[in-house]
Amino acid sequence: MFEQFEATAPDPILKLIDLYRDDPRSGKIDVGIGVFRDANGDTPVMQAVRIAEEKLHRRQTTKTYVGLAGDEIFNDCIADLVFSHSPQRERVRAVQTPGGCGALRLLSEMLYRIADDKTIWLSDPTWGNHLPIFRQTGFGIRFYPYLDRQSKTVDVDALISKLKTLGKNDIVVFHGCCHNPSGAELQPGDWDEIAALCAKNGFLPYVDLAYQGFADSLDQDAYGVRALASAADSMVVASSCSKNFALYRDRVGCAMVLGKTHEISDITRGHVLSAARSSYSMPPDHGGALVALILSDPNLREVWEEELTGMRERMLFLRKTLRDILRRKTRSDRWDFIAKHRGMFSLLVLDEAQVEALRTDHAVYAVAGGRVNIAGLKDEAQVEQFADALVSVTS
Ligand SMILES: Cc1ncc(COP(=O)(O)O)c(C=O)c1O
Repeated sequence: MFEQFEATAPDPILKLIDLYRDDPRSGKIDVGIGVFRDANGDTPVMQAVRIAEEKLHRRQTTKTYVGLAGDEIFNDCIADLVFSHSPQRERVRAVQTPGGCGALRLLSEMLYRIADDKTIWLSDPTWGNHLPIFRQTGFGIRFYPYLDRQSKTVDVDALISKLKTLGKNDIVVFHGCCHNPSGAELQPGDWDEIAALCAKNGFLPYVDLAYQGFADSLDQDAYGVRALASAADSMVVASSCSKNFALYRDRVGCAMVLGKTHEISDITRGHVLSAARSSYSMPPDHGGALVALILSDPNLREVWEEELTGMRERMLFLRKTLRDILRRKTRSDRWDFIAKHRGMFSLLVLDEAQVEALRTDHAVYAVAGGRVNIAGLKDEAQVEQFADALVSVTS
């Protein structure tokens, strides 16, 4: 039977990892893969996670099933982290999922059951994996304008004009913060405007929150979610603990739904759970248990928040250093947008030949289009080397 298959296209990012690994040059730079790296180029286990793992090891007496929704303490903690004290918090229902991708997929399946118009709106550009996740559920995909490729900022006017045309049958996916791949952020005033449109026209906001704490602060990064929650009739949020807890391989995420009433939220959660039951059934427990321990213990939480702040500050430092070096080298403000972007990524808007030249001539590995992971730059010397390569391929 399998003879019928045609080979699948290789994942471009995984291909890039192989090329990087096989490159013998000593000064090679990986700004391709999307994981946070420290100044040694490592992605370490966070201290708070280590302490929680020791606690868990001592406390855990069984590995029996937890349940379809996973760890309810985890679910409460994440809903609090995302919605805080907003009045809508009480109507939020959460389900632990295998990573942010698991949350995206479950919410997509739940929405597909009731969506009138089986299409979903994504930002242009968006994270590559959004497309297969929503397509596999059955949704058709349409794009709303997001990035102004000239200024590398959000084209707010174009975005708002498009949203004005959307209504009750439309589902719109927003990146809560740290837009992937562009790094260009919506400002609080923009979120307020979007929320007002949502209240007026009734589209359903679907927020992908994969980087809470990586942009400005845990609270500021949830501004958009909270603004939309105050305006929307119904809303969903997919959050991920892969980055902010550095629990990538443990697969921890959370699918959240917010309905008009408690009862509607409960029923909607039931549909998320039934989508889980028909695929992986129950989420892996370990990572969720760690996050629950960290967020519910004030001392551990403090350790975690401090580490998270350190990660965020490193990214901001690298952004500013890169901007300053590029200003000096080009005697222009052409690259200033890099310091205004947030999170790990910036889309430099490079063509295929430029990305190729970065790799072959300078041993710099970036994703197609010129998405670079700022956290992939170890130190100031490497920032300088990267800046040289960038100036060389763009001048
Ligand atoms: C925009 C976005 N959404 C969701 C995710 C989910 O990641 P994970 O499934 O590893 O938690 C990522 C990870 O790279 C992402 O960049």
